[in-house]
Amino acid sequence: MSDHSDRIILVTGASRGIGYASALALAKAGCHVIATARTQGGLEDLDDAITAAGGSCTLVPMDLKDGYAIDRLGAIISDRYGRLDGLFSNAGLLGDITPAPHVEPKTWDNVIAVNMTAPYRLIRSLDPLLRASNAGRAVFVNSSVARSHRAYWGAYAAAKAGMEAFVSAYAKEVEVTNLKVNLLDPGATRTAMRAKAMPGEDPKTLKEPADVAKLVLEMLSPSYPENDTLIRYLDWAKA
Ligand SMILES: NC(=O)c1ccc[n+]([C@@H]2O[C@H](COP(=O)([O-])OP(=O)(O)OC[C@H]3O[C@@H](n4cnc5c(N)ncnc54)[C@H](OP(=O)(O)O)[C@@H]3O)[C@@H](O)[C@H]2O)c1
Repeated sequence: MSDHSDRIILVTGASRGIGYASALALAKAGCHVIATARTQGGLEDLDDAITAAGGSCTLVPMDLKDGYAIDRLGAIISDRYGRLDGLFSNAGLLGDITPAPHVEPKTWDNVIAVNMTAPYRLIRSLDPLLRASNAGRAVFVNSSVARSHRAYWGAYAAAKAGMEAFVSAYAKEVEVTNLKVNLLDPGATRTAMRAKAMPGEDPKTLKEPADVAKLVLEMLSPSYPENDTLIRYLDWAKA
């Protein structure tokens, strides 16, 4: 029996990229995956892949900009399972790579909503369920730009930096519980977001989402010991 057997794990941004690969890996390891994103087709592809691998998942098409939908999701998980063993808060939105004064207000709002406000709303909705697990694990996906503040990436960098601060404060609050809360920086990975950010780059030079999924599996495992850390994929892969 795997470390992950019978664990209930919520994955956001599961329709493609790192979220898709992680949801599939978690289901293959024995978790029941609750998979969310807006794109129904991507979620259905995931469902097919998980079913073909003998795993199980529940699809929840939703927009993470809708905080009340996140509240409803928490209520449904509470009614059905009474607990949540893992949260992989992975969904992200790059917005536009553009000079700071040119960031459109709508883009700013969307980037902040998906990258910073949604993780807060997930914590608000799911905290009692994560604490109800005997080994709750929550992993929030960060980016190196949260600390490097790269030129032209201001809105995304600000949103990720704000998310990091909120998550790190939360991690300190749960220190004396069974719940562990950490941040993951995947580094450059072959996904649609990376292709948008770096259109001239040869994607074949980048690692695949499935590589990152191996670290996600480890960080969501009940035996994962760390709390309030930022794990960089590159450091982990080198170790
Ligand atoms: N790829 C990289 O090189 C890299 C590097 C550093 C950090 N990251 C971070 O890694 C995470 C995953 O990124 P990725 O590269 O896998 O990107 P991706 O392929 O663009 O996937 C992003 C996911 O987020 C979901 N999402 C976006 N807006 C949403 C919304 N409003 N509501 C619900 N879901 C939404 C998308 O689903 P729908 O569009 O179907 O809703 C999609 O499943 C992000 O947090 C990103 O910031 C990536």
